[in-house]
Amino acid sequence: MNDCRTELLDVSSFLEDEIMLLISTINNKFPETDMRLVYEPPNIKFQVIQLDMVKYKAVFDSLNITDSLKKAAFALIDDIGSYGLKGKKRHFVGYNAERKVANRKAKEQDRGKHYYANDNNFSKQNTDIPSEFENRIICADSLELLKKLPDNCIDIIFTSPPYNFGLAYDTHNDTANWDAYYEKLFGIFSECIRVLKYGGRFVVNIQPLYSDYIPAHHIISNFFIQKKMIWKSEILWEKNNYNCKMCSYGSWKSPASPYMKYTWEFIEVYCKGDLKKAGSSVNADISAEEFKSWVVAKWSIAPERHMKEYGHPAMFPENLVERVLKLFSFQGDVVLDPFNGAGTTTVVAKRTGRRYLGIDISSEYCETAEKRIDAIGVGQQSVFDGLN
Ligand SMILES: C[S@@+](CC[C@H](N)C(=O)[O-])C[C@H]1O[C@@H](n2cnc3c(N)ncnc32)[C@H](O)[C@@H]1O
Repeated sequence: MNDCRTELLDVSSFLEDEIMLLISTINNKFPETDMRLVYEPPNIKFQVIQLDMVKYKAVFDSLNITDSLKKAAFALIDDIGSYGLKGKKRHFVGYNAERKVANRKAKEQDRGKHYYANDNNFSKQNTDIPSEFENRIICADSLELLKKLPDNCIDIIFTSPPYNFGLAYDTHNDTANWDAYYEKLFGIFSECIRVLKYGGRFVVNIQPLYSDYIPAHHIISNFFIQKKMIWKSEILWEKNNYNCKMCSYGSWKSPASPYMKYTWEFIEVYCKGDLKKAGSSVNADISAEEFKSWVVAKWSIAPERHMKEYGHPAMFPENLVERVLKLFSFQGDVVLDPFNGAGTTTVVAKRTGRRYLGIDISSEYCETAEKRIDAIGVGQQSVFDGLN
């Protein structure tokens, strides 16, 4: 076969009979214009051009071979991340030919990729977090506490700041004058950027205050851009709940001033200095299925249902944190949440084999966070034993 993608599967540990059955079945079920398997001991050579993955899966499901060979052979093709789609088939070759924009790389160069962040002064010298801050929940004002950390010692920050909506927090006053609010918030975020490693990620969940027409996601994003952080992504967190169930429609049936309703929040992802994060692939804990599904940047996740139980009015659901950490960080990385609340970020960091530092101004919330972390059973925790 000329123009095809070739993958090799080492089958030296499998029986000759099942290898032959696999090859003959696939070659009978699929035409040469789709794929061919060739036995070249110790490998099977998979030559693939295009494939209906639903049919491919069905053929594998009916194959009478060991589960381990089935899994390895299926994943070899299913895990290929670069392909185009035409009709029902994945196309593994030539899928770039139809791109609308020719010479993309050269044009990117001419335009200047993330031009707003290119002349930053970030140091590339990363360091490890001092031991007194590692795996700790600390009750403090983040503006003060973060000043005690060295530059470039945190791999990833995931947080949701208080939004100044007037929520009933334990200690924090959630109704400040907007100038004072942003001055404090940006003071804390500036410290966060300082302590973030070169190549580290700053992931912020933001909900605009629609009722007061405050586009907090734009104001905060503008701050990050001024700080020369690279905008990597914006995830739409679809919560499927109205932000304003009971409120009116504004000007009912009139264009005078209709009131818009929203069921989502934003998650903005920024990188310090480099889009690529240092780390070894052996410390990546995201599965192929998770990766394929989560890179589609609209995440449908229900809001946290246990806020009353934990006594906090604005918590993350754990599966939101798990997605962020597995998609944007490695096991063993240091995770910071400077507005840690009841500790969801740090709980998930520990459960997934990452190190953590959680800071909150309320001692009550910090106690809750400690209790949740202590309650993680040994069996529930991923063990990290690699080096990043
Ligand atoms: C939106 S909540 C975060 C909730 C958290 N994501 C969770 O899952 O529990 C914001 C938190 O910021 C805390 N906070 C407000 N000002 C702070 C400050 N200056 N330093 C540290 N924490 C602060 C509040 O006590 C509150 O718990």
